[in-house]
Amino acid sequence: MVDVLLGLQWGDEGKGKVVDFFAPRYDVIARFQGGPNAGHTLYVNGDKVVLHQIPSGIFHDGIINLIGNGVVLDPVTLKKECEKVAGFGVDVKKNLFISERTNVIVPTHRALDKASELSKGDDKIGSTLKGIGPAYMDKTGRNAIRVGDLLRKDFKEQYQKLRTKHIQMLGVYNFEEDIAAWEQEFFEAVDFLKTLNIVNGEYFINDLLKEGKKVLAEGAQGSMLDVDFGTFPFVTSSNTISAGVCTGLGIAPQHIGEVIGVTKAYCTRVGGGPFPTELFDATGEELRKIGHEFGATTGRPRRCGWIDLVALNYACILNGVTQIVMTKSDVLDSFTSLKVCTGYLVDGKETAKMPYQLNGVEVQPVYQEFKGWDRAVAACNAIEELPIAFQEYLKFITDYLKVEVRYISNGPGRDQIIYQAEQVTV
Ligand code: IMP
Ligand code: MG
Repeated sequence: MVDVLLGLQWGDEGKGKVVDFFAPRYDVIARFQGGPNAGHTLYVNGDKVVLHQIPSGIFHDGIINLIGNGVVLDPVTLKKECEKVAGFGVDVKKNLFISERTNVIVPTHRALDKASELSKGDDKIGSTLKGIGPAYMDKTGRNAIRVGDLLRKDFKEQYQKLRTKHIQMLGVYNFEEDIAAWEQEFFEAVDFLKTLNIVNGEYFINDLLKEGKKVLAEGAQGSMLDVDFGTFPFVTSSNTISAGVCTGLGIAPQHIGEVIGVTKAYCTRVGGGPFPTELFDATGEELRKIGHEFGATTGRPRRCGWIDLVALNYACILNGVTQIVMTKSDVLDSFTSLKVCTGYLVDGKETAKMPYQLNGVEVQPVYQEFKGWDRAVAACNAIEELPIAFQEYLKFITDYLKVEVRYISNGPGRDQIIYQAEQVTV
């Protein structure tokens, strides 16, 4: 079976830590979409590590980590990351596998990303500028270089052809960038990448499934950044929802078992675009400060607000979520009152459904208010110990979404997760 773990909001739900926690129950952890725009933060023996390209199961000996065909891969980031995890004693030559169909990010993709953002002016997406959009455009535009191509004799010519095309495109944007240094790094990283395990990803994973191995597909970004269903055009360029697992790894839908959705106890977003429950006041500032809400990839301050059940319900429907993990619940400990968004007022009419378009539409969140709790969630070790007011908050969310919140993360550490033993089904 393939279980899926993904974010239900705008990314940064804490997936890295949760995957790391679930990893021992699986034989394979696989990334199926996104690229170095992701930043998955983990704590290994107390040390903070941020992963961008490598699946979050890499610190577990004996677990296979697969970068699937649906990912866009930057060799430079990958090389740096491999060196970083090697410092923790990880042997990537043993535990990391890359699909030969994975698309490669080249230096000019990053330049094109910058040029495109600049051209948008005030309407810029707030991209991480890692070349994600242009790389996926080359995939659907049928121009991309794939990992398997790196091994071919004519790779340099293929690269030059693509480079020439990109330089022409940069000319249309009237944008110049000196990419010489990037290119040198890129070719060094390509040489390194060629020494790793490059496999036919779809046979690789299906053979493992036939042997009865358990796979966890690790999502990047979040459901509300999905290119089809997110807050378009302020989205990323891949399908972040569970459907992306099939196309991003080459597995059939009937293999999918549990879909584990991760949400924060509140909500954040980094970059531009609509965010109905965003707080612009001191409360938003408090959330950012207490929750250390700064981007793991870009360092940008994250926008903060209350939990949005309209968006979460939408994400549960699209993904077929079977269980929820709530992260950063401890961050709410110091608030005397909290709000939960249960509906949107769109042009004066209340709805619990996500409108097709949120840009340029006046959306006002409808809130239900909750009392804060008197004891710290951070200090709890079992469900029974959780403050009553927090349990009520959880029950309201579960009842609204009709999906159980099974795991509550109450701190950054690997083992700071509360759950009932009989609930462990994955
Ligand atoms: P891009 O995917 O880098 O082009 O960025 C598109 C939008 O998605 C921007 O608003 C980014 O801030 C956001 N984004 C991309 N990756 C992540 C992520 O891993 N976490 C949170 N936001 C992300
Ligand atoms: Mg992140």
